Amino acid sequence: MIARALVVGGSGFVGQRLLALLGARGVGTFNRHPFSGGLGFNARTDRLSDLLRRLEHPVSHVFVPYGTIDMEGCARDPKGTAQVNVDTVIAVLTDVLAVGAVPIFVSTDYVFDGTGGPWRESDAAHPRMAYGAQKLAVEQWLASQAARWLIVRLSKVVSGDPATHGMIGQWITELRAGKPQRCATDQVFSPAWVDDVAGAMIKLAGTDAAGLYHLGGPEAFSRYDLLSLLIAEIRKVAPQTAATLEPCSLHDLPFLEKRPLCTALAIDKLQAKIAWDFMPMRTICGDAALAQFGGIRAG
Ligand SMILES: NC(=O)c1ccc[n+]([C@@H]2O[C@H](COP(=O)([O-])OP(=O)(O)OC[C@H]3O[C@@H](n4cnc5c(N)ncnc54)[C@H](OP(=O)(O)O)[C@@H]3O)[C@@H](O)[C@H]2O)c1
Repeated sequence: MIARALVVGGSGFVGQRLLALLGARGVGTFNRHPFSGGLGFNARTDRLSDLLRRLEHPVSHVFVPYGTIDMEGCARDPKGTAQVNVDTVIAVLTDVLAVGAVPIFVSTDYVFDGTGGPWRESDAAHPRMAYGAQKLAVEQWLASQAARWLIVRLSKVVSGDPATHGMIGQWITELRAGKPQRCATDQVFSPAWVDDVAGAMIKLAGTDAAGLYHLGGPEAFSRYDLLSLLIAEIRKVAPQTAATLEPCSLHDLPFLEKRPLCTALAIDKLQAKIAWDFMPMRTICGDAALAQFGGIRAG
């Protein structure tokens, strides 16, 4: 069981939902986006050990979902972004281990090169992007520590809320604006609802689990197929919604680095431990369509 947990990056997309689900057991940090009850912490300038000393109640677990997740930013400035994504994260994890709490480091499916999949925890990681290489560097450091630790690799985290950077909510904003969508048919991942991601991570951390776990939805989707599903669900409630959807290859898009094609994750290890019931993508898309387009009448 989690007695009390700190979320470093509690103001982020995943961090906010971790805190919401932890309720009274959780306390979180922010850097540039303050929130009520949050504790200011800039990993570039502050030491987590100082913050841990100031806490009213000691924590048993520390979730670490913070960092620079802008992949193009990491590609442009691998050294500068590694200062946050590698150096400060290792310093944070060092301080967590020093107080005997269990660190839960949030990693990514981008540690894989995209040539296979669905990827298992036992598969060799070969990142082809700076962001994935940074995450793998932290994983390798943590894996060398003797105390109990958890690494949870996520695939795409989604939410139907347009106020988040989850891809379904973002697509809704763009569809509303009539923006044509160029969408890769060959980029395949394991999307999971942000509340499932946060809930499953909390449940896993509350068991005696240690080591590396993959956490993604049970159904692999291409980006194109997931957007097609969303558009179909929107058209059920708002049949005349216009959408221009152009299929392409991921490698046609002008990213600085060649991105991995298939990063779908096998989650048998996670399911053997916690048997999580994931919300299907059809339900997420259907609920988002109803919430965002339900008031629009056809004709
Ligand atoms: N979202 C996804 O689809 C996805 C997929 C795979 C893996 N992941 C991993 O999951 C984790 C969470 O992702 P997310 O989408 O929730 O990211 P996010 O919304 O961008 O949140 C990032 C968090 O990091 C904090 N932060 C940034 N720089 C910091 C610094 N110098 N010191 C302290 N805190 C700092 C931010 O604080 P402020 O906002 O207050 O500045 C924010 O709380 C990340 O590690 C990411 O790599 C996410």
